[in-house]
Amino acid sequence: MDLLEIIIHRRSIRKYTGQPVDDALIEKLIQAGMYAPSAVNKQPWHFVIFRDRDTRKKITEIHKNAWMLKDASVGILVCWDETLQHDTGYGPVDCAAATQNILLAAHASGLGGVWIGVYPREDRINNVHKIFQLPKAVQPFSLIALGYPDEMKTLPERFNPSRIHFEKW
Ligand SMILES: Cc1cc2nc3c(=O)[nH]c(=O)nc-3n(C[C@H](O)[C@H](O)[C@H](O)COP(=O)(O)O)c2cc1C
Repeated sequence: MDLLEIIIHRRSIRKYTGQPVDDALIEKLIQAGMYAPSAVNKQPWHFVIFRDRDTRKKITEIHKNAWMLKDASVGILVCWDETLQHDTGYGPVDCAAATQNILLAAHASGLGGVWIGVYPREDRINNVHKIFQLPKAVQPFSLIALGYPDEMKTLPERFNPSRIHFEKW
């Protein structure tokens, strides 16, 4: 698959076979995250890899749209360090780029994954902060559920020429 195909064919996958995902592959995905662009190249991110059943269950209890974590083989929490980001507001933007890189690398590696939103919802930020015992200056941005896919998705049509403008609106 070339890169454009990977981008277009990536879908949110929420059903997993249960087959374990090995650490070496997870490390490659994190590497992809760390090669994302970031403001002033500050790379303010941290990644928490978690497999613990109890942690996954706790998240499903505080986040109604994170149910797929229950059956995921592994989860990644993407966070940013407020002391490392370029300026207020840049950490989440950088983390979004890292999250998408991880999802694309997962798809290219035969895994399925989904972005579970944490930021900007304050209640989710506070709850996830507590569950993972993050330091004060570290803020959670997104959770990524990962596993070998147990569902197939058809390719939606999304190309929308009416959203493209030339030179001026
Ligand atoms: C900021 C953000 C937050 C999201 N939060 C969730 C979520 O909490 N739970 C979930 O199942 N999917 C979540 N998604 C995935 C979207 O539902 C999904 O990307 C969208 O429906 C498009 O489908 P696709 O990823 O298959 O192209 C989120 C995506 C983004 C970008």
